[in-house]
Amino acid sequence: MSNIQSVLHETRVFNPTDDFVKQANVSGMASYRAMCDAAAKDYAGFWANLARETILWHKPFTRTLDESKAPFYKWFEDGELNVSYNCLDRHLATQPEKNAIIFEADDGKVTKVSYRELHGRVCQFANGLKSRGIKKGDRVIVYMPMSVEAVVAMQACARIGAIHSVVFGGFSSKSLHERITDAQAVAVITADGQFRGGKAMALKPAVDEALSLGGCKAVHTVIVYRRTGGEVQWDDNTNVWWHDLFNSQPSACEPEWVGAEHPLFILYTSGSTGKPKGVQHSTAGYLLGTMVSLQWVFDYKPSDIFWCTADVGWITGHSYVAYGPLAMGATQVIFEGVPTYPDAGRFWKMIQDHKVTTFYTAPTAIRSLIKLGGDLPKQYDLSSLRLLGTVGEPINPEAWMWYYTVVGQSRCPIVDTWWQTETGCHMIAPLPGAMPIKPGTCTLPLPGIMATIVNEAGDEVHDQHGGFLVIKKPFPSQIRTIWGDPERYKKGYFPEEMHGAYLAGDSAHRDEDGYFWIMGRIDDVLNVSGHRLGTMEIESALVSNPLVAEAAVVGKPHEIKGEAVVAFVVLKGSRPADAAAAKKLAEELRNWVGKEIGPIAKPDEIRFGENLPKTRSGKIMRRLLRAVAKGEEITQDVSTLENPAILEQLKEVIK
Ligand code: WTA
Repeated sequence: MSNIQSVLHETRVFNPTDDFVKQANVSGMASYRAMCDAAAKDYAGFWANLARETILWHKPFTRTLDESKAPFYKWFEDGELNVSYNCLDRHLATQPEKNAIIFEADDGKVTKVSYRELHGRVCQFANGLKSRGIKKGDRVIVYMPMSVEAVVAMQACARIGAIHSVVFGGFSSKSLHERITDAQAVAVITADGQFRGGKAMALKPAVDEALSLGGCKAVHTVIVYRRTGGEVQWDDNTNVWWHDLFNSQPSACEPEWVGAEHPLFILYTSGSTGKPKGVQHSTAGYLLGTMVSLQWVFDYKPSDIFWCTADVGWITGHSYVAYGPLAMGATQVIFEGVPTYPDAGRFWKMIQDHKVTTFYTAPTAIRSLIKLGGDLPKQYDLSSLRLLGTVGEPINPEAWMWYYTVVGQSRCPIVDTWWQTETGCHMIAPLPGAMPIKPGTCTLPLPGIMATIVNEAGDEVHDQHGGFLVIKKPFPSQIRTIWGDPERYKKGYFPEEMHGAYLAGDSAHRDEDGYFWIMGRIDDVLNVSGHRLGTMEIESALVSNPLVAEAAVVGKPHEIKGEAVVAFVVLKGSRPADAAAAKKLAEELRNWVGKEIGPIAKPDEIRFGENLPKTRSGKIMRRLLRAVAKGEEITQDVSTLENPAILEQLKEVIK
């Protein structure tokens, strides 16, 4: 990506201010190094101490790390706890009236929920789940808009030991169906619809459709939260309104104590095959990761107003909305709407109104807000801010500098956090009171995270050319397995060449200070607006259209989204006769992909060829297609190409 190339020459360094250092949870590089040394000296002891200090255990653990069945690691295995107890009950004695959630709806209406109230609601809903026969170990799909209720649903599952699998509301009924059947869920929690940008959009029909696709016999309950008041189809046997289930229940519910390794949730993410993988997380290790990263990376203070803009449908919304901030007893903002409604000043107005201190968002959001109103932040009082964060994709230096100077007024450190659905919490990120920061690098690994860069043989590389990003030692918050597919987990993340290290799937290099610079994915995964999309998933969606014979999908750099999706399509019949026909068909196929996967996966561009460029052995030449998509001159050897003439067809951009 051109952004990354320009980042390679970045030399600006920003030190934390004295004031920031003075108040920081970890002050100065020496403190950071001391923590890293402690972890290096006694790795298990380092994590065991943190787990004892941070988590409230129902039954203390005696064993820290079990590596006997590596890479199926177990942490704190004989300990017992409950995540919802750690997020809610623990605060009742000390700060029951503190706001847990400040919810701002799409239309600007604000609702505040204290820890006492949230605890009551979670207990009530947990009792509701139990009244429907949902119990420990059952899988429950959550397909909801951003709302207090989405958090209540997740926490209530955790309270009774049910395993939730949140599906982002922007996914289609097909994607939802795939997840319901893979997880063999017994219940779906949803809403009639959601508000976004002043419009009501239905959600429930996607659930109805998903369930009608077959294979969902285990689903005995569909709980529907009434949000928009829109018409819904109703099946008396399985459907129940949230309020009907909820209102009759007592507001106390004894938590289900579970073992440390009990799965807290499954979250599906894209990989390099067509089938999304159900990333399974543990209870204790995951909780620990979210909590320590809030303390270290977000420098969490009880007086903070924390705002992570991610949807709970993604891992960021799990770790830094639904769990981490509550476990720390924070007050957090949750936002239903979109950053551009009623105008591109919405985020800045909300920071001003709620006196947000810590703001965490994605580079793609920053880039689009610069474009729509680079001066808008100046119209708002952003003096409450003390720390900014980014996640999901590399941030280009221009966007970084704008975020730093215009939003943060050169006062707030930026934590560029590298991590993944699989890692559960931040892995490489600044400890803002310790590290000097530079635009475009996520800096150094968290204490206790043994990240490094290796070559194809799994040997560490120390030069600046880079290689594969790996984590050498198991860590508490990591993925435990892929739901129902342990082999894929083992092969995908711990291939033999890596000698037991966790292969992240990203390439990176290090600069002279040892700072990590993430270059991008090494597999067929695209990063579009900070969302992971598998090229194979989009290809199979295209090929499932009756008109399509073959498809290849690649990424190309995009100013706002980071990466755009370009699809090369071979039709069963002949190529479209003219530009108008091509345009019409391209639109049809884009909508098709929207229906198959979800609007986020719609190709930005579709091009038609009579064939795809293949080697004589029949392999699609993806590198060549990437060059074609970018409009680069073809310098590659195309002599092995079966039919060089089709290259000209594939260069044609449909306008
Ligand atoms: C990318 C999101 C550069 C990376 C938390 C990773 C990043 C994938 C950064 C995981 C960052 C995430 N800088 N790239 N700070 N953070 N990525 O699972 O390619 O949705 O592998 O988790 O996003 O995406 P996921």
